[in-house]
Amino acid sequence: SAVELGPYQHYMQKEIFEQPRAIADTLEGVSGIMPELFGDGAHKVFKGVDSVLILACGTSYYSGLTAKYWLESIARIPVNVEIASEYRYRDSVPNPNSLVVTISQSGETADTLAALKHARAQGMQHTLTICNVATSAMVRESQLAYITRAGVEVGVASTKAFTTQLAALFLLTLALAQTRGLLSDEQEAEHLKAMRHLPAALQSVLALEPSIAAWAEAFARKENALFLGRGLHYPIALEGALKLKEITYIHAEAYAAGELKHGPLALVTEEMPVVTVAPNDALIEKLKSNMQEVRARGGQLYVFADAGSSIASSEGVHVIRLPEHYGLLSPILHVVPLQLLAYHTALARGTDVDKPRNLAKSVTVE
Ligand code: G6P
Repeated sequence: SAVELGPYQHYMQKEIFEQPRAIADTLEGVSGIMPELFGDGAHKVFKGVDSVLILACGTSYYSGLTAKYWLESIARIPVNVEIASEYRYRDSVPNPNSLVVTISQSGETADTLAALKHARAQGMQHTLTICNVATSAMVRESQLAYITRAGVEVGVASTKAFTTQLAALFLLTLALAQTRGLLSDEQEAEHLKAMRHLPAALQSVLALEPSIAAWAEAFARKENALFLGRGLHYPIALEGALKLKEITYIHAEAYAAGELKHGPLALVTEEMPVVTVAPNDALIEKLKSNMQEVRARGGQLYVFADAGSSIASSEGVHVIRLPEHYGLLSPILHVVPLQLLAYHTALARGTDVDKPRNLAKSVTVE
């Protein structure tokens, strides 16, 4: 209803703009890093595991892919991330010492729930869920849980659930790092400080909405788009492409930018917009040469840079700059302009933003 939507036109837009609040709520009460944030007995579980298996679907799967980069580099623990519907029917090799992590907004997705039960049936008893609904089946079926506080998400295309999942997964990374003796008090304090600043940092990214909306006009006329990212931001490129196809019906594909030369470069012409997630991280120079490969074929680049990345607008290179470079937490900020780009492109195309055709908010049957 109009009352619930307040100043917003759609739930998706409202939910995008709720992200500073959603992250603040998800981190509320976190005064320090400790395994018990994930439930009683978490310390013992975290001590005993030698790897992590993440199972999820859709947008939640992409938060899992992002977490793999964090968990391996910060907590030094090997991680597998698998699509729940694949895992549940595959003859895999169970590791009873693995921590099985399911990620779900609803906690009711049939494939993810079945994957969790399948893992348990295979002898994997250490289970943890990151979930937005405290009373859901996934929380009931898991030994440990972290409840994200995104609040009710109405838009079928997930937004605030994703960024709160990322916040929870970063906490999980820090808690596992601490258990493994890899987190000093100074590092803990620094990470917590960066996390607490996220709501303010998100506000300044949301303020970019008018410039992103200006790009949407060009996208609305296209039938294809390519998204590129590297490292931590490869899953963000995947999520950006998913958002675009879900609500605008534009065919969008995401690639790890290093893979460009192994196929997608063949698709690049003047007609192909190439969205590039380009924070100033260790891979920025590599990414810039990928961008040159695109420009050399006439592709139009739409670049989400940040304060640190020295990428200037030029012929065929459109740049929007996020105000801060945010280090390891940068994916939480960089996904937001991609959500807004999909949203404004959908508006320009006149599609049903909150209820895209053929899709459901929660897929509780197979
Ligand atoms: C559906 C929704 C997606 C969501 C996915 C997983 O496909 O449309 O937005 O990411 O289910 O849902 P879950 O509730 O398990 O996160």
